[in-house]
Amino acid sequence: MFHYAVFGNPISHSKSPFIHTAFAQQTHQSIQYEAILVDTPPGEFAKAVQSFQDQGGNGFNITVPFKQAAFDLADQRTPRAQLAGAVNTMWFDGQGRRIGDNTDGIGILRDLRDNHGLSIYEKRLLILGAGGAVRGVLEPLLNESPALCVIANRTLAKAEELVELFAPLGRKVTASSYEALREHIFDLIINGTSTSLHGELPPLPDGILAEQGWAYDMMYASQPTTFMQWAQTQGATQVQDGLGMLVEQAAEAFYLWRGVRPDTAPVIAQLRPQKLSFSTERPVEIGGPAGLEPTRYGDWERKGRCIDF
Ligand code: ATR
Repeated sequence: MFHYAVFGNPISHSKSPFIHTAFAQQTHQSIQYEAILVDTPPGEFAKAVQSFQDQGGNGFNITVPFKQAAFDLADQRTPRAQLAGAVNTMWFDGQGRRIGDNTDGIGILRDLRDNHGLSIYEKRLLILGAGGAVRGVLEPLLNESPALCVIANRTLAKAEELVELFAPLGRKVTASSYEALREHIFDLIINGTSTSLHGELPPLPDGILAEQGWAYDMMYASQPTTFMQWAQTQGATQVQDGLGMLVEQAAEAFYLWRGVRPDTAPVIAQLRPQKLSFSTERPVEIGGPAGLEPTRYGDWERKGRCIDF
């Protein structure tokens, strides 16, 4: 029996034990996966990891608010974790060294590309927001060679910092205010801001989504988010939320630990048995805590509950 866990605070409503147990059953792996609540004072996370390692733990996920602490604690980080500036998946090598990785970026890419058929190659890509969530996913998106990638943020300086960080990848990435978006048209808009959590919307001009354009919110909920509703009014042909990203990042972690890639579709289907409906008359439950408020992957700390990791 191999032993895995997710560390976070709060953690009681984590979806990870459900997701990884489903993966294990599907792939006939003998694993135990538990949610571990860690106190937030400095040093507590490192102690919890040491104790888990001493007890023979094999690997673990890290969620809010410990992704940076995990980054610092890693003896070795993968290049993608280095660029993301955060670690969400760890394991121990033969010498007991802690290897830190980040599977968030590959999670969104697989959801967009493989689950929804949304190719980014040569597309005009707009990313909203410049916080940790956006930083975590930029590299794999840029690697898909969009025609251009504009990062729009309320605080322009933060978008410019990300551009500086990711420009060495050699792709056409630029920063913009929301106001300046008026002059552009985009094929795909990804919302990485926290606005949908509060039923808000970034100040997006109308008419910036191309005909046949797509929209993707990194947040997910049982109802279309504010951003998804906006995209619908702009004539988007595909409007998706981030539930698939949650399952895909878990699948990549499972693959890193177990060397076998689970089929994510049945697990996504279990979490949300029906398609999202834009009709307010037919709300769709996705399991987890009863609330129907939007929650973004990585954001449950702010909501005080977890339908994320
Ligand atoms: P995370 O690490 O989850 O990304 P964060 O670092 O707090 O969280 O980033 C939140 C993002 O949502 C930021 O890009 C923020 O914009 P600012 O950098 O200008 O603060 C964006 N955001 C939050 N509320 C917003 C609002 N009402 N309108 C536009 N952007 C908003």
